[in-house]
Amino acid sequence: MGDRRTRALVSSAAFAVRLAWLADRRALVHVLVVQVLSAAGMTAALVVTQKVFGSVLAEGPAAAGRSPALVPGVIGVLVAGALFGALRLSGTARMAVLTVKVDRLVAGMVLEAAVAAELRRFEEPDFHDRLQRAVFASRRQPAQAVVLLVTAFQAALTVLAVGGAFAVMAWWLLPLVLLSAVPAVKAAGRQRGAYHDLHHDLSENRRLREYLERLLTGRDEAREIRALDLGHVLTGRWQDQYAREVESTERLLRSHARRRMAAQAVGGALTCLAVGVLWWLADSHLLPLSVAGAAVAGVWLLSVRINTFAGMLSGIGENLLRLTDLRAFTAPDEGAIPPPLMPRQKTVDEVPFGEFRAEKLCFTYPGTDTPAVRDVSLDLRPGQVVALVGVNGSGKTTLARLLAGLYPPDSGCLLLDGEPVTDLGAHRERTAVVFQDFTRYKLPAVDNIAFGRPRTAADPARVREAARQAGALEFLAELPDALDTPLGKEFTGGADLSGGQWQRLALARAFYRDAPLVILDEPTAALDAHAEDRLFTQLRRLFAGRTVVLISHRLRSVRNADRIYVLRGGQVVEQGDHVSLLRTGGHYADLFRTQADAYQTAGTT
Ligand SMILES: Nc1ncnc2c1ncn2[C@@H]1O[C@H](COP(=O)(O)OP(=O)(O)O)[C@@H](O)[C@H]1O
Ligand SMILES: [Mg+2]
Repeated sequence: MGDRRTRALVSSAAFAVRLAWLADRRALVHVLVVQVLSAAGMTAALVVTQKVFGSVLAEGPAAAGRSPALVPGVIGVLVAGALFGALRLSGTARMAVLTVKVDRLVAGMVLEAAVAAELRRFEEPDFHDRLQRAVFASRRQPAQAVVLLVTAFQAALTVLAVGGAFAVMAWWLLPLVLLSAVPAVKAAGRQRGAYHDLHHDLSENRRLREYLERLLTGRDEAREIRALDLGHVLTGRWQDQYAREVESTERLLRSHARRRMAAQAVGGALTCLAVGVLWWLADSHLLPLSVAGAAVAGVWLLSVRINTFAGMLSGIGENLLRLTDLRAFTAPDEGAIPPPLMPRQKTVDEVPFGEFRAEKLCFTYPGTDTPAVRDVSLDLRPGQVVALVGVNGSGKTTLARLLAGLYPPDSGCLLLDGEPVTDLGAHRERTAVVFQDFTRYKLPAVDNIAFGRPRTAADPARVREAARQAGALEFLAELPDALDTPLGKEFTGGADLSGGQWQRLALARAFYRDAPLVILDEPTAALDAHAEDRLFTQLRRLFAGRTVVLISHRLRSVRNADRIYVLRGGQVVEQGDHVSLLRTGGHYADLFRTQADAYQTAGTT
């Protein structure tokens, strides 16, 4: 266990250095050179000091002022001190820049890894724990690791420098002095391990706390939280979560503080022993006074340095352990979707989209036992409008996601012109989806539409055309800055849209994508009845030549579909066109009658 940890620490240290190298190699080299030079300066100063000290002791204090040989030495030390001061300042400035650059590099790596992760991963709490820890580790930790490593490197060099000067004078005391640091290093190591374990245990706790923070500070949530007067309940939960974190941390630190104090006492006793031995040696004239004096100074300097170094190591250790989290997350993931080698953007004409089939698709969400989609087979001919209907939870949305290539099915496959679809990434490029819970990008309206085709620069004329087709152009034109208006009032000059207007924007995005397969999951849920009717009657014309999968729980709106699949419990229980399904008198007919009755009742009251 300890060994594995040590190895992880060493490779994390290499990782941190590599990051710094990638971020700004010149700054890294600059900083390292400064550290080496100052360590060398420290050794020189020590040796000169010892020389001065020795000659003063040998010739008596009165000789010190007179001896001309001393003056250049003292002046040399002073000049070198000033030079190193300047050097160190330049190193610090370079270090600050390096920190910023490493931060950017690492945060970018985490974002890229998150983007590359397969959608399925986002269903797993463990993934979110790992992501949270990586984000946590990406915030200043790598840069801090580099700072700490550099400082430790410098401390190590000065330990070596002092140790070297010391070794000349009283080498036989060296093991004792080094030994004095061992208990402290051991205790720090143990605390570090425990702290890291706690950090892992608290991941989910922290995620919940951060979620509550978002709820309490977000604009979208602010409304309902006030309407329900939920603020104090949520802050109460936030306090609870935080209290738990603080409590566990406090408990851990308290139990380890005692251990570290004991270790420090042992180390201190060993240092005292070393000084005592020197005292005794000088007293018994076994050692010249000048050497004993310099050795005492050396023991003191060395033990202070070693202790600082040990403390630093424990800080670095903790930091580097966090970096292991970052590495684990950003390492290439065997489950990740490889990014396309070249930006691909084939147009509809380039990719013939023929007969599309789904064969015996099965899918179970991670963390659940019941399949959400079971043995579903569908047939979609080019240019057809196919509808998926069924009550809430019957698996429509899940099936839509499978058809869109967002999840690989557990079993079964998609077929295009009889060929199994193996590249889901390429399949997604041929698909435009309007999600039931589509995303409202709080960015300019034009982006909300042009994101339908992110690999090509936005074409203003086509953006307007897509907006027009979705019935969004009119209200967009009235925004303060028309299509350039940011759609979030938390941004300067921003505006907000109504639910139905947002939905039209999502539709416009699908029009703009101009893909041969279009999947619309309840695309009219937020539209009024008139708008819904209009959209459905125009659907065929608007998406002419494309294969359309239309999901709706309002059966009235899908009765014109070429083929209707009725889902129940994740399975297709009936299929056919509206007339034949009604004639069958099964589940569809039941649902249709219930809805028709509801309309009639509403009409008569
Ligand atoms: N992310 C998810 N994780 C686990 N189960 C899910 C998830 N999304 C949906 N389900 C479940 O899968 C089933 C089908 O859901 P869904 O496809 O959304 O149905 P529909 O769109 O027809 O309302 C439901 O039982 C639902 O609870
Ligand atoms: Mg749904």
